[in-house]
Amino acid sequence: QRNFPAPESGTAAVGVSARSVVEAEPDEAVPEVIGASLERLDGPAKVTGTARYAYEHPVEAPAYLHPVQATIARGRVASVDTGAAEAVPGVLAVLTHTNAPRLASTEDAELAVLQSDAVAFRGQFVAAVVAETTESARQAADLVRVDYAEQPHEVELDAAGGTLNTRTDNGDVDAAMASSAVTLDRTYTTPMQHNNPMEPHTTIAHWSGSELTLHESTQGVYSVRSVVAPVFGLEPEQVRVLAPHVGGGFGSKGLPHAPLVLAALAAQRSGGRPVKYAVTRRQMFALTGHRTPTSQRVRLAADAEGRLTAVGHDALEHTSRIKEFSEGSSTASGIMYAAPNRRVTQRLVPLDVPVPSWMRAPGHCPGMHALETAMDEMAQACGLDPVEFRIRNEPEIDPISGLPFSSRNLVECLREGADRFGWQQRDPTAGVRRENGWLIGTGVAASTYPTHVFPGSRARIRYADGRYAVLIGAADIGTGAWTALAQIAAEALEVPFDMIDPHLGSTEFPEATVAGGSTGITSWGSAIVQAATVFRDKYGKQPPEGAEAEGATQPNPDTERFSMHAFGAQFAEVRVHADTGEIRVPRMLGVFAAGRIVNARTARSQFLGGMTMGLSMALHEHSVLDSRFGHVVNHDFAGYHVASHADVDSIEATWIDEHDPHVNPMGTKGIGEIGIVGASAAIGNAAYHATGIRVRDLPLTPDKFL
Ligand code: MOS
Repeated sequence: QRNFPAPESGTAAVGVSARSVVEAEPDEAVPEVIGASLERLDGPAKVTGTARYAYEHPVEAPAYLHPVQATIARGRVASVDTGAAEAVPGVLAVLTHTNAPRLASTEDAELAVLQSDAVAFRGQFVAAVVAETTESARQAADLVRVDYAEQPHEVELDAAGGTLNTRTDNGDVDAAMASSAVTLDRTYTTPMQHNNPMEPHTTIAHWSGSELTLHESTQGVYSVRSVVAPVFGLEPEQVRVLAPHVGGGFGSKGLPHAPLVLAALAAQRSGGRPVKYAVTRRQMFALTGHRTPTSQRVRLAADAEGRLTAVGHDALEHTSRIKEFSEGSSTASGIMYAAPNRRVTQRLVPLDVPVPSWMRAPGHCPGMHALETAMDEMAQACGLDPVEFRIRNEPEIDPISGLPFSSRNLVECLREGADRFGWQQRDPTAGVRRENGWLIGTGVAASTYPTHVFPGSRARIRYADGRYAVLIGAADIGTGAWTALAQIAAEALEVPFDMIDPHLGSTEFPEATVAGGSTGITSWGSAIVQAATVFRDKYGKQPPEGAEAEGATQPNPDTERFSMHAFGAQFAEVRVHADTGEIRVPRMLGVFAAGRIVNARTARSQFLGGMTMGLSMALHEHSVLDSRFGHVVNHDFAGYHVASHADVDSIEATWIDEHDPHVNPMGTKGIGEIGIVGASAAIGNAAYHATGIRVRDLPLTPDKFL
């Protein structure tokens, strides 16, 4: 196994070699590289512990940070007494809003750390200690005494409030509801949830004059640079960001949050020493984003044949008072099913809560939970099988834009899934199958996620020593991007996979957009394909030593001509104990149509990961806000449960062989998020089929079945 090649600067162990993977293949057979089930290039480094995550990067004489968090949800800091903290041996500095360095821009209120006495949510930074050790920093932070002038706060989502954020209207949903043969009007609620990647948010911040180096656990080194530079009054080139390996993010590392700014501020008071800050699991529940709770009213109307005449979806979400973020929960209801009348709205309620942010499949995840639960209820009301009901309401074109779909294989996913799952034998009657005290049921739900290519990624290809280096500042957050991008480069250059050395995760490499919105491979891959085209045009098949070419994502006129989305079908079997309400999930199956699959092995992991997160949402995830104090009470893994292996017996993901020439040069659609979409609805629908009890409020805890 070849070691990770070092980048030019020699500052980080970045890079992977493709060699070991292909050595296993017979020499003469060069396998088709796209779609192959290749092992992760970064796998050996990860399992042997040599892959460096942000906090582990060795730096000289680091100092350590521990913050002080507000204990009120709204008000002002009246006074801070730092005397006892400063007296702790090893303390280098205690920062408060009165003495912290001033930021150049406080426009982004989430990032305006220690710039005023205002407290906008419980858990906000009000002070921080920099010390020789993590222990002394933490001890001193406990000794900082903060007095507040408290103001009344509001953290509970109340359906009465809210301002209209977006609205799409076609026809007249009210009129269709009044005149259609079958109607359904239900409200579904999903709770506040928190991203919990394995690796918490970590930063090493180091100033060298006016240059800032950040070892950061992030989904985008360039996203960090472009946001952080103006906050500190720097040119982008003065901010260097490195993230060769990242232990997950699920959206919470998509943009920088307050902890990064605090670390960089503290590093201005550490006597030139690098400052290390690992956000604790508990701190994550206030400081690194969350998914808003939602309340969603879904109205469906249909004719006597079960053809939808109206789709209405009105979603209510919260946001913080200091920075607006909209989840966009009802968006998917615009494109899922044909209906002449449609109304899709989102209302936002600003509250004294931490700033919400991206969490896997923002909007589509909670929104499709509501729509797909309603579709199950409506299928039953129409006397139709839920698979057949969905197929009957398949639209021919995008109902909102009127554009054709570039490809849409929802029906194929439903049919393939029904076959594999054994749906045909299903007795539609709810609450009648019982085995040893367990009620048994099966459920289905559809899945979708939009396909985008973000503009603005660039890639460089360099030929030396018979190998092709592919450089792009993309972040692999654990998804397999190291490997998939090498596969894309190999195909585009028409060379064996083992000749490619990818270099990712640093602002020393060309600009790349964020690993978010399921756009990573589609956006970065497009830039790599373009770079390969330029390279081959310039040098042909026999490039000279040192040959180099760059390419960028190209504008795609087809985005104006087609509606682009991935689709899927989720199936689940559920058992609910008749006496205790205990819920078990023996089986999950996901079938997806998500364009060309680059790496069968890592793609399967992405789908399964998404489905597992959907299982987790269905059964467990619920951040409980205490309205008296404004904080999440269950702010650790003892109280906030995340699904584990024991929560499901068999979980399978597969896909339809889909070729879509319109989406991007590779024909890929993005697979990071679609796996979570619809999974919770399939489980909820199965739980209904098992028990006859329809739970419209997640998670599906045992009490709701008793
Ligand atoms: Mo994803 S929530 O867009 O990182």
